[in-house]
Amino acid sequence: MGGWGKRLAGQSAEQVSATLSAKAAEQLFEVLGSLKGGAMKFGQALSVFEAAVPDDMAKPYREALTKLQTAAPPMSAKQTHRVLAEQLGRSWEGRFAHFDDEPAASASIGQVHRATWHDGREVAVKVQYPGADEALRSDLRQLQRFSRLFQAFVPGTDVKPLLAELAERMDEELDYLAEADHQRAFVKAFEGDPAFLIPRVVASAPKVVVSEWVTGTPLSRVIADGDQETRNLAGRLLTEFHYSSPARAHLLHSDPHPGNFMLTDDGRLCVMDFGGVSKLPDGIPRHLGEITRLALDGQSDDLMRLLRENRFIRKDSDLTAEEVLAYLSPFTEPLATPTFHFTRRWMQRQAGRVGDSRGNDFHVGRSLNLPPEYLMIHRVTAGSTGILCQLDAEIPARGIVERWQPGFAG
Ligand SMILES: Nc1ncnc2c1ncn2[C@@H]1O[C@H](COP(=O)(O)OP(=O)(O)O)[C@@H](O)[C@H]1O
Ligand SMILES: [Mg+2]
Repeated sequence: MGGWGKRLAGQSAEQVSATLSAKAAEQLFEVLGSLKGGAMKFGQALSVFEAAVPDDMAKPYREALTKLQTAAPPMSAKQTHRVLAEQLGRSWEGRFAHFDDEPAASASIGQVHRATWHDGREVAVKVQYPGADEALRSDLRQLQRFSRLFQAFVPGTDVKPLLAELAERMDEELDYLAEADHQRAFVKAFEGDPAFLIPRVVASAPKVVVSEWVTGTPLSRVIADGDQETRNLAGRLLTEFHYSSPARAHLLHSDPHPGNFMLTDDGRLCVMDFGGVSKLPDGIPRHLGEITRLALDGQSDDLMRLLRENRFIRKDSDLTAEEVLAYLSPFTEPLATPTFHFTRRWMQRQAGRVGDSRGNDFHVGRSLNLPPEYLMIHRVTAGSTGILCQLDAEIPARGIVERWQPGFAG
């Protein structure tokens, strides 16, 4: 992570002036603003990096996001009922004791209603917009045409594979049945854990998912006006969730966005939205932990040997150990001390190091040949780090990584 908002593809950092970045930003926001509600997910994914973008640049971006979030008009009650009848059967009404026609929240490609299930449980009913699939596909085509612009905003370098993955993820997003199955797996894995709450799935269909209603403080509220203790708690739990899920559920929640988390009154982290989930049957790969450990300890010879032995560095590359260490520093720095205070300032510093070796991850990105799941984990970690910075949280990151990341503690 680093350098986004500063560079365009194919140009050196030096070539890209602040003016050009601002212009790219402007164009990017325009594109984002022109997309249908379906692209909200992409906007959300970008928004966690907002903490890294200088304020004057972030302002139009925030406005574009707000516009995006209000872009999709809610379905009428009649439309909603039609989807429910298609998905849950014509006698769908009998399955609810009460159904609130007024949406309680908007979802990226649908809306969430509050209802009472026939057995008395309070539930959240996520209903997908009819035509969401076509809208998503047209958004994706639009995004692909502007991939050069996105280059400037996404950490690392390769936007193309990111977009390819996005296309794949979109198909997953559309499939609420698969989402519900992932949610069930998480419920099972975190059952009885006093620190986490995953809403139970009550019923599911391809375009409707019913889960138990959870009351809590949205993470965005904690970010906006939570006290320090609450911020630290949210940050710690978020990190524990991120690092422990691959071991406990063999899955990684790949959509770290404040809108997907709440803090309950009894101090649990409620995790929602299992539309973007990656399968990690063997947990976090051990090599990733070993790489992090060697980088943290500055054991550059061993680090480079590990990378070369596993062909993680391209043959023709002249990559130096310093460059690799600099590339990894946003991930290792928080592990150097028992606790680390994540701040927007720190994130901006990580992002703003252009010109020196630390800002050189275009070169590093091209030289590394990491397996796709490594890059994916890397990206989700970067996204979670973005939230930690928005939270301004001080957390015992090192202890959490020691406990849950194989290969790190040795
Ligand atoms: N079980 C639930 N209890 C309470 N609110 C919920 C629940 N599930 C979803 N929501 C609300 O609906 C919003 C959107 O749901 P989410 O699953 O994140 O949709 P999307 O996949 O489109 O992002 C959440 O941010 C939250 O406000
Ligand atoms: Mg969501």
